[in-house]
Amino acid sequence: SLKVANVQALAEKLSLEIPDRYVRPERKKDIFAGDDEIYGESIPAIDFGKLFDSEYSEEEAAKLHSACEGWGFFQLVNHGVPEDVISKLREDVEEFFKLPLEEREKVAQLPGQIEGYGQVFVQSEEQKLDWADMLALATLPPSIKQFRFWPTNPPSFRENLERYADEVKSVADGILKMISKNLGLGVDKLYDMFKGGIQIFRFNYYPPCPTPEKVLGLSSHSDAVGLTILLQINELQGLQIRRNGGWLPVKVLPGAFIVNIGDIIEILCNGKYKSIEHRAIVNNEKARLSVAGFHELNFGDVVGPIPEIVKGDKLHYKSLEFEEYTKQIFSSKLEAKSILDLMKL
Ligand code: SIN
Ligand code: FE2
Repeated sequence: SLKVANVQALAEKLSLEIPDRYVRPERKKDIFAGDDEIYGESIPAIDFGKLFDSEYSEEEAAKLHSACEGWGFFQLVNHGVPEDVISKLREDVEEFFKLPLEEREKVAQLPGQIEGYGQVFVQSEEQKLDWADMLALATLPPSIKQFRFWPTNPPSFRENLERYADEVKSVADGILKMISKNLGLGVDKLYDMFKGGIQIFRFNYYPPCPTPEKVLGLSSHSDAVGLTILLQINELQGLQIRRNGGWLPVKVLPGAFIVNIGDIIEILCNGKYKSIEHRAIVNNEKARLSVAGFHELNFGDVVGPIPEIVKGDKLHYKSLEFEEYTKQIFSSKLEAKSILDLMKL
């Protein structure tokens, strides 16, 4: 990956003219952006508690199934993660991004690595840049943690992230169980597949921009992982999902998680559920912060349609060892094409 500028430092120096590499021509076509009235709809809400309450479970599981089939995204309310676990993480993340640049750069990315503080993977000198910085940290399995990339300032960061990560893993497990059941695989199939899987957190920091309509905080993409659980650190919205050919702004209830089906689940279920493209926009007043928790398979696993799902149907994706799948994501050959396109038969 190539080293590019720290965006927070850039934003602090700017008046009106932003460097060309951040200007996105595709935004000229954004007729729907910011206007969810056009759709008159918003992503469904799923109640996590109800999924596991015998009185409501069947009804809520059906809602989950139609959210996965018809949206690929939903917000998760009543998820049971204790309020203090979330608020402590929020405080530490906000504090980290307020530190002076040299302090933040103590956990800077290293060449060829995805963890640490820096910017989204940049592969060429021509590639347009996102209006964001980020910090990526792997949390599971425990043996892959690289503490050299974990901030020691604020001092409680490590403990608070570890607590949050455990809670989010349990939520992911619960969703995987219900998805598995909904797909007719039995409650434990996906849970077992992801049990020893990798969990990575990405903390996104989107500085305010003098011309927000010209940039993107995060380029359009689908998540290459299994399941993503996103928390908005402050209550600013900015996530948009691809829907009916436009971009639908995602409005989230305070404290709710945004959950989305990633490419791996789309592949495992042979396309019954889809991994939906999304992106993040920025504003001109305040920095927006979010934290995405990615749940993946692990080395030794195979990414490919599950035979019990395919049965006599047509195969829509090929199968690849997880290691090879991951290599492809970071290979320069992939360029603008997504791994999902590469896997399609
Ligand atoms: C992401 O796609 O991982 C982040 C989106 C967001 O910041 O809302
Ligand atoms: Fe994403």
